[in-house]
Amino acid sequence: AAAVACYRQSTFVMIKPDAMQRAGEVISRIEEIATLRIADMRLVALQPSMARLFYAEHSQRTFFEDLVSYVTSGPILAMRLVGPDAIKVWREALGPTDSNEARRSAPGSVRALFGTDKQRNAAHGSDSREAAGRELAFFFKDTVDGICSTSEPLTEL
Ligand code: PPS
Repeated sequence: AAAVACYRQSTFVMIKPDAMQRAGEVISRIEEIATLRIADMRLVALQPSMARLFYAEHSQRTFFEDLVSYVTSGPILAMRLVGPDAIKVWREALGPTDSNEARRSAPGSVRALFGTDKQRNAAHGSDSREAAGRELAFFFKDTVDGICSTSEPLTEL
């Protein structure tokens, strides 16, 4: 039998500080992807301690403190997207990490259109199911069972 697409997969999106002035356009790009829908959204002023936890896997990298400073330099928009193969679909829409590379190899991508370089690259997307679960819990765990959220429980990941 043909492979069945993972249905109703969730992924985590963060519109980073550099792209917040054009957040509406980034959201429009998401809306253009017919199979994805925005299931949750939250405006967050990330504190440095939270940013260090979110990016903990990069804590030994030379750019770590730069990344923390940057991502706490202004509000971010956290979102949960749901749809078949949402993780892969959103990563493809984003394009490569470095916006300069994205303009060469994926000209219509979110990072090509709205980002500047490897640090200021407009938006983030989970790169695996494990990352999606961790990142969604990080931003939305306190709302999923409450009146604030429109989401289904995260256990449906
Ligand atoms: S890796 O491990 O090299 O593949 O990491 P990469 O996917 O390239 O990047 C991981 C995240 O770190 C950010 N990044 C940087 N920030 C600041 N300065 C430099 N030089 C830099 N290089 C990478 C990059 O934007 C990625 O952020 P996310 O939010 O995961 O897109």
